[in-house]
Parts: sequence; structure tokens; C-alpha cells
Amino acid sequence: MRLLVTGGAGFIGSNFVHQTVRERPDVQIIVLDALTYAGSEASLAPVHDAVDFRKGDITDVDLVDELVAQVDVVVHFAAESHNDNSLRDPWPFVQSNIIGTYTLLEAVRRHGTRFHHISTDEVYGDLELDDPAKFTPDTRYNPSSPYSSTKASSDLLVRAWTRSFGIHATISNCSNNYGPYQHVEKFIPRQITNLIDGVRPKLYGSGQNVRDWIHVEDHNSAVWAVIDRGRAGETYLIGADGEHTNKEVVEAILELSGHARDDYDLVSDRPGHDLRYAIDASKLRTELGWEPRYGSFRDGLAATVGWYRDNEAWWRPQKDETEARYEGLGR
Ligand code: NAD
Ligand code: DAU
Repeated sequence: MRLLVTGGAGFIGSNFVHQTVRERPDVQIIVLDALTYAGSEASLAPVHDAVDFRKGDITDVDLVDELVAQVDVVVHFAAESHNDNSLRDPWPFVQSNIIGTYTLLEAVRRHGTRFHHISTDEVYGDLELDDPAKFTPDTRYNPSSPYSSTKASSDLLVRAWTRSFGIHATISNCSNNYGPYQHVEKFIPRQITNLIDGVRPKLYGSGQNVRDWIHVEDHNSAVWAVIDRGRAGETYLIGADGEHTNKEVVEAILELSGHARDDYDLVSDRPGHDLRYAIDASKLRTELGWEPRYGSFRDGLAATVGWYRDNEAWWRPQKDETEARYEGLGR
């Protein structure tokens, strides 16, 4: 199988490439990545010789066409991915997430290539904190932020290209990922690296917002389950029943880093901050037989704390610029 992985130098994409090289040596991989602030060739260093890396933009029609023509399957991770950035400047989100996905869809339509679209549970908006409900594939789209609305737009493009042009596509909507190679702008690595730098963790608002955490390797094994066994035109929700308040996560990181559990600061809230996400992954489990490998969030978090301690050379170049951006937002 020949695979084009867009966004393969980002957090989830690079972990997907590592896992694929390790577990499926017969798969040939081309990575297409623009190396924005969020992408880094260093994330692919351990698999450098096993991958054909192409620096380029998914909105580049000619380049996308040339690469799509060479593969059997496109796995589309590339996106602007951070909510806080989308509140400051939505334009790159419109460009990469909507126009970029459109460009890929047109190429797979021309070449008859199978397409798997990586998306997010944020397209469904949020749930009340005290509501036992979870997102299902039938939940109404109701995105809150510029980021999530551009991801919702890209999902709708994939659905329309499937129905109107008959392309062979699948979509997966996953909950919050954690693990190695995640940019330090994101919640968990920001707090781990703040503590390494002697800075107290920062919780937005009350810290009561809930996210449904899944280890990045579990997300990627589910993506492979969809590529292998998913039905064309279907949407699969990916999650591993990992709901925690942000306060609980920060307390766990503090404990794992040898600090008192209340050694954090509450800072101003994110505008429009989604309250709670929760995934019902029963379709993925029953139809495709997928199960997560990471049994315990606490163990996965401990391994992640260890990874950031051991890999300062990877994250240090991102840290000052990221914190300067947050200072501008007062968070
Ligand atoms: P990331 O920001 O770490 O990586 C994104 C990658 O895409 C970077 O390497 C970047 O250089 C590349 N990229 C961005 N715009 C590009 C363009 N125009 N052309 C080519 N490359 C471009 O993001 P991530 O957290 O790894 O997320 C990957 C995908 O998974 C995204 O589609 C995101 O919406 C989705 N997702 C993320 C999460 C999560 O918790 N992080 C959860 C569910 C879904
Ligand atoms: O649900 C999937 C989504 O998860 C993905 O689609 C996004 O790409 C990914 O970034 C993530 O979005 P969130 O906005 O949930 O992730 P973030 O890491 O930015 O924040 C997680 C929670 O932590 C959120 O409630 C905001 C809060 N937070 C974040 C930061 C950076 C803090 O309390 N303090 C912080 O310093």
C-alpha cells in the first residue's frame, strides 16, 4: 500500500507515521507537510530513512495532484489545530482547513484515490457538565470556534464529495489526544514544560471544563481500523472513555512532577470556551472491533511527563515564542 500522509510532521501525523513504520513495514509513505510553526522535521527523525518527506502546502494544486497520483490512500491530518490561535487570527484556518481539504478532494476525485479525513469531536459543539449524554455520529453539528467551524466545513466538503462525486472517503472525529511530540501550546505539554521551567500551571476559568482524553497511539490504531475495515462514506467517532476536568489533569501532572496538587494559577477564560466533550465510540468498537491499548490515563500521562523531561531538545525551540503568544492573550 502506498500512503500520502498530510500533516505528517505534526503531533498526531508524526505519531501515525512512527506507528505505521513500526507495525506495517510494507506500507510506503509520502509525507506532505508545510512545516508551519506546528510542524517539525525533528518529529520524523527516528523514521527519516523510511519516509519520503515533501515540504509543501496542501493548497498547492499541482503538488497535491502530483503526489495523490502516486498513492493508493490519502490520510489527511494537515490542519491549523489550535483554538486559541483561531481566536486571534482565523484566516490560516480557513485557508488550510477548508481550501486545503477542498484541494485534496479535487485531486482524489481526479485520480480515484481512497481518502481518510481526520477530524475532531469539536464539530459537535459542547455538552453540559452535568449531562450524561455523549457525542454520537448522529449528533447535530454545532461548532463554537473558528477552528472547529473550519473543521466542520471540511467534514461537510468530504460528505458532499462522497455523495455527489462518489469518491471513496471515510471520516473520523476524535477527542483530545495526548502523548509525545505534541506542541507546547497545547494544554498538557504546556503545563509539563512550565513546571520544568519553574512556572506554575495555568488553568483557564474555573478549571471545571471537561475533555475526553485518548492516547495518540490509540487514536492512530483506530485510524488504521477505519482504513482497513471502515465502510466507504461512513463516519466513525474515536474516543477511549477518558473524561477528566482540566483541574484533575493539572493536579495529576503536578503530582507526577513532584509538586503539591494545588500549586497552579487560575487565569482568564478562553472566549466561547466549550464546556465538555465526550465520545460514544460504540460504532468503532462493535463494527470494527477496535479497543484502546492504553488502559489507564494516569499511566499514559506519567509516560508523557517522562517523554518531555527526556526530550527537551525537541520542545525547547518552541517554548519562548509560545509563551510570548499567551502573554499577548493574558493567559
Ligand atoms: P498539529 O498542529 O500538531 O499538526 C498539524 C500539521 O499540519 C503540522 O505539521 C503543520 O505543519 C501541518 N500543516 C498545517 N497547515 C498545512 C498546510 N496548509 N499544508 C501542509 N501542511 C500543513 O495538529 P495535530 O494536533 O497533530 O492534529 C492533526 C489533525 O488531527 C488535525 O486535522 C486536527 O484537527 C485533528 N485532531 C486533533 C486532535 C488533538 O487532540 N490534537 C483531536 C482530534 C482531531
Ligand atoms: O477535542 C479535540 C480537540 O482537542 C482538537 O480538535 C484540537 O486540535 C486540540 O487542540 C484540542 O482542543 P482543545 O481546545 O480542547 O485543547 P487545548 O489543549 O487547547 O485545551 C484543552 C483544555 O485545557 C481546554 O479546556 C482549555 C484548557 N487550557 C488550555 C491551555 C493551553 C487550560 O486550562 N490552560 C491552558 O494553558
